[in-house]
Amino acid sequence: MSPTSSSASDILTADNVIVRFETAEGPITAVDDVSFKVRQGEFLSVIGPSGCGKSSLFNVIGGLLTNHQGTVQVAGETINGPHQSIGMVFQEESTFPWRNVVDNVAFPLELIGMPKAKRIEKARTFIKMVGLDGFEKRFPGELSGGMRQRVSLARTLASEPKILLMDEPFAALDEQTRLLLGDQVLRIQQQLQQTTLLITHNITEAVQMSDRILVMTYRPGKVKRIVDIDLPRPRTSEIVGSEAFGRYVAEIWNDLREEASRGMKDEEEHALHEGTAS
Ligand SMILES: Nc1ncnc2c1ncn2[C@@H]1O[C@H](COP(=O)(O)OP(=O)(O)OP(=O)(O)O)[C@@H](O)[C@H]1O
Ligand SMILES: [Mg+2]
Repeated sequence: MSPTSSSASDILTADNVIVRFETAEGPITAVDDVSFKVRQGEFLSVIGPSGCGKSSLFNVIGGLLTNHQGTVQVAGETINGPHQSIGMVFQEESTFPWRNVVDNVAFPLELIGMPKAKRIEKARTFIKMVGLDGFEKRFPGELSGGMRQRVSLARTLASEPKILLMDEPFAALDEQTRLLLGDQVLRIQQQLQQTTLLITHNITEAVQMSDRILVMTYRPGKVKRIVDIDLPRPRTSEIVGSEAFGRYVAEIWNDLREEASRGMKDEEEHALHEGTAS
C-alpha cells in the first residue's frame, strides 16, 4: 500500500491539485485543492459552471499545464509533461487536413515507429470501431464535423492510452450527432474497458455515461461532490425515462444551479463595480 492509500485498482490519483494564473486583473485560483481517484476502467464525468477550472484540471492531468501545485499520478508515475499514458480529445478541430482518415488515425503509431503495414491494420481496427469504415481514403475536408470528431477519437484510441481525457468533445456538434456519438463512445468505452474522463455541460449525458460524476464549485474550482451513479449497464435510452435516472439528474442539477447562480451573482457584482469605477 502506498502512503496515499491508493487501492491497486486506482489508475489515476490527483492529490491537492492547485492551479493559479496571473491575469490582467491579478492572480486567480482556477483549481483549488482538488483531490480524487479514478479506478481502472471507470467512466468519470466532470461537470461544473463555465470558468470553474475543468479544462485547467484536465490540462494538468494531460501534462499540458505543469506550473501547478500538488501531484497527479497515472499508474504510479507522476505527470510532469505530455505523457503517452494519456490521450486527449478536445472540442476544437484537431485532424490533420492534409492526411486522409487512415493516415490521421495511424499518426501516433507512425510516431512510435510502428511498421507501415502494421499501423495501417491497427488504424483500420479503430476506424471500424468508430463506424468510419469505407471512409479511410477521405480527407477531413470531405467529412462532416461529427465524422471528423470520430477521426480524432479513433486517432487517440489508436495510441492505446491508459486514460482517455475528453474535454467537451461533442459541444460543437448538433444535438442528434451528439447523441449518436455519445452512444458510440459509451459502447467503445465498455468494449475496451477504457478508463475515461469526460468534461461535459450536459447532465443527462453525464448520468447516462458515468460511473461517477465529479461536480465542481464555481470559482475557485473545488470538488463540491462526487456522485456515484448506481444504474445498471448497458444503459440504453430506456433508462433515461426511469425514475432513478430522473432523480440523479435532479440531484446534480440542484448542485449545479447553486454554483451557477453564485457565478451569475459574482459576474453581476463585477459588472456593477466596473460601472461605478468608470
Ligand atoms: N492560460 C490562462 N491564463 C490566465 N487565465 C486562465 C488561463 N486558462 C484559464 N484561465 C482562467 O482560469 C479559470 C478556469 O478556466 P478553465 O478554462 O479551466 O475553466 P472551464 O471550467 O474549463 O470553463 P468552460 O466550461 O467555459 O470551458 C477561468 O477564470 C479562466 O479565465
Ligand atoms: Mg473548458
